[in-house]
Amino acid sequence: MSVIDKMTSQYAIDLENKYGAHNYHPLPVVLSRGEGVFVWDVEGKQYYDFLSAYSAVNQGHCHPKIINALTEQSQKLTLTSRAFYNDVLGGYEKFATSFFGFDKVLPMNTGAEAVETAIKLCRKWAYEKRGIAEHEAKIVVCANNFHGRTTTIISFSNDEDARKNFGPYTPGFVKIAYDDVAALEKVLIEEENIAGFLVEPIQGEAGVYVPSEGYLKKAKELCEKHNVLFIADEVQTGIARTGKLLAVDHEEVKPDVLILGKAISGGVYPVSAVFANDDIMEVIKPGQHGSTFGGNPVAGAVAMAALTVIEEEGLAANAEELGQLFRSELNVYIKDSNIVKLVRGKGLLNAIVINDAEDSSTAWDICVALKGNGLLAKPTHGNIIRFAPPLVMTKEQLLDCVAIIVKTLKEFEK
Ligand SMILES: Cc1ncc(COP(=O)(O)O)c(C=O)c1O
Repeated sequence: MSVIDKMTSQYAIDLENKYGAHNYHPLPVVLSRGEGVFVWDVEGKQYYDFLSAYSAVNQGHCHPKIINALTEQSQKLTLTSRAFYNDVLGGYEKFATSFFGFDKVLPMNTGAEAVETAIKLCRKWAYEKRGIAEHEAKIVVCANNFHGRTTTIISFSNDEDARKNFGPYTPGFVKIAYDDVAALEKVLIEEENIAGFLVEPIQGEAGVYVPSEGYLKKAKELCEKHNVLFIADEVQTGIARTGKLLAVDHEEVKPDVLILGKAISGGVYPVSAVFANDDIMEVIKPGQHGSTFGGNPVAGAVAMAALTVIEEEGLAANAEELGQLFRSELNVYIKDSNIVKLVRGKGLLNAIVINDAEDSSTAWDICVALKGNGLLAKPTHGNIIRFAPPLVMTKEQLLDCVAIIVKTLKEFEK
């Protein structure tokens, strides 16, 4: 009998438990289909997806235009490596650089790879353009950051689960408090050889921490003053999620280096990218960085379609409008709630903070109950639940979701 013949949710979970590494703790739901804002489990139950694969599926599940680009290109040419040219990559690079307003793009596959790329780019720029002595360059990062899972990236995380027993760690990073302009200014004045400042415009994994208004703008000004690269990791916040194409657009900040992933492909294919202008990107020469799959023709075709959908369907404006509605509706409930402390976020990247001990299971239990009521969300760090639905949601659907969330929270009021 094939695996598919006897598939039930429990059987699929058992298979993963037995044969897969236990590096995740998924909610107990087994999905087999997705369309727009909805997903279905193997028993046929329908759910609102309120996570969007950590903000990758901004354009909605299986968007026909993106799937069409995927299937058409995958029947013509899938991979050449960069040993040869292909007839999609150049067109994609032209499209993407003009879409985001940079001279050049360096294509990769996953978010973590793109962050690694930005770190390498920044270091090389520091040695070749700033004249910092080799091996001495430092990059400033923020406490409670999340930039991915590679050895170098976890070296500057302060999440013990992500770090412990994975050392020795990569040196060359200085950690400061997030949303603290004074701390950034201090480090730029006091420490030598600072080459870059790597920052999430909103800290997503940490619990959707939105910095104070003006933080990004002031941070960029300080970086300019000290000739330090402002590197924005918009893997989670980018591509219309927060109500603008990029979260830095809320403060009209132009990063020196922009990191994108996830929704640049609509969650259809692993695509990531690092953008910079020529004076920075030109330090990378043949043989110095790359990836077999980075810049493959399927990725290029899919990303062009995914970005076109963002623009054609006005998804940034929809995220802005629905985000405001979501927070204002939830605030009406939270006013008299004992179980929820607050809702925060921008656009359709939001979170509620549960009024219970950080190590209690309440957020998890609420997510299990939400699943029972037809909506999928997941706790993030501490007792926080992130809410990030696909941006193709309608107002009616959003209000339906608010009703499900409120009904579920009521079950937990003390
Ligand atoms: C801000 C940020 N950077 C980088 C990453 C890593 O992306 P990936 O999981 O595709 O490696 C994530 C993933 O959640 C992220 O939120």
